[in-house]
Amino acid sequence: MSVNYSERIPNNVGLSENRRLQRALEAWQPNYMRWWQELGPEGALDYDVYLRTAISVETDGWANFGYVKMPDYRWGIFLARPEEGRTIAFGDHRGEPAWQEVPGEYRSSLRRLIVTQGDTEPASVEQQRHLGRTCPSLYDLRNLFQINVEEGRHLWAMVYLLHAYFGRDGREEADAMLERHAGDPDKPRILGAFNEPTPHWLAYFLFTYFTDRDGKYQLASLAESGFDPLARTCQFMLTEEAHHMFVGETGVMRIIQRTCEVMRELQTDAPERLRAAGVIDLPTLQRFLNFHYSVSLDLFGQELSTNGATYFTTGLKGRYHETRIADDHCLANATWPVLVPQGSAIVREEQPALLAINERLRDDYIVDCQRGLNRWNKEIEKHGVDMVFNLPHRAFHRRIGMFADVHVSPDGRMVTADEWARQAHQWLPTPEDHAFVASLMQPVTAPGKMASWIAPPARGIHGKSIEYEYVRFH
Ligand SMILES: [Fe+2]
Ligand SMILES: [Fe+2]
Repeated sequence: MSVNYSERIPNNVGLSENRRLQRALEAWQPNYMRWWQELGPEGALDYDVYLRTAISVETDGWANFGYVKMPDYRWGIFLARPEEGRTIAFGDHRGEPAWQEVPGEYRSSLRRLIVTQGDTEPASVEQQRHLGRTCPSLYDLRNLFQINVEEGRHLWAMVYLLHAYFGRDGREEADAMLERHAGDPDKPRILGAFNEPTPHWLAYFLFTYFTDRDGKYQLASLAESGFDPLARTCQFMLTEEAHHMFVGETGVMRIIQRTCEVMRELQTDAPERLRAAGVIDLPTLQRFLNFHYSVSLDLFGQELSTNGATYFTTGLKGRYHETRIADDHCLANATWPVLVPQGSAIVREEQPALLAINERLRDDYIVDCQRGLNRWNKEIEKHGVDMVFNLPHRAFHRRIGMFADVHVSPDGRMVTADEWARQAHQWLPTPEDHAFVASLMQPVTAPGKMASWIAPPARGIHGKSIEYEYVRFH
């Protein structure tokens, strides 16, 4: 299934055979381009960036690398190959053929799911738009831009569904995607974490590790959807998401490596000495980790959710790897353990599995997050440094769900408001932490050179050396 690049909008959905849809999307395209110019990567319109472009949805379809000016990136519409005879894998419609059109009774729920997912995509581009000014290397700058253009493409993916399947309200929702903006007090993005600023590269690497990983879990459960076009769109988006999380994981790893090297050189773990030497001390890194992890946990929503249950029973949104789970895929009588606050304790309660569908996805996510920490901790150990990164307790610093109104320490103790106020500076980044990290953010743009606070990557991109000129300025 190769992609037709001769069209204004590259696609593998036969767009030229649907003139009405093609015209509607071609009318949206200039608005998108205007948005990219105004709120996409700042000052970078004219750079030549060594980017990867999808030319087909097959595994070898990624082989296309070359210099592109970002506004010339061929944003397009790609769906994974259809699965012959696909049936709905879960819920009340289990075993029925997957829907090729939107079922009337689920129209507004489905639209809400697509809009909520779609809204996060341009949001992250907006959040990251100033980072190019302070890149730690050309390699990192290129990866930032690669992620940005792909998030732009993810917006296209959702906008295509809205235009193709939701008529007039779909078109209005597509327009609104470009009207809400990250952190805008009047028209904010839909979800909290997508209104937080990404003020520096440490925040960015943790965002791509933790928040893009939420994206992975949302997309994976939408990839199970009974609405086949949504499932196929999300399957393809997941292949792009993997790279974003790679950037996050290796970015944090390289920061840790650099810090540990300097700790050994100076024979110290004193934060002030390490900071003076231009690296980020590990306790500061842990505080930022605590922040990004906890705001990303909120993205999974309420622990017990009737919406979540409805999305599942109606076949709109499945569980992670739904088809690999060995159960009845209806969850009529099943239960799921959920942690809840009770007095001054946190206790485990068996709850209806249907209501706990969000919590189950959060559980899967937490396991996945821990894997990266294990690898980071191995790196620390390799340097003989005595420190371990921990994921804070899931109840820590939550704004959504049953723990939103209580204070919980990173190790999972309910604490009083007083204790929280006394200790929070050890648990979450302080204004001084932010100021210190911001002070490190001096741009490094000579090929192969790295900022003081980050080690070089293990290898370059697509067989190129680390010294390759991944971005050319003019
Ligand atoms: Fe995305
Ligand atoms: Fe992403």
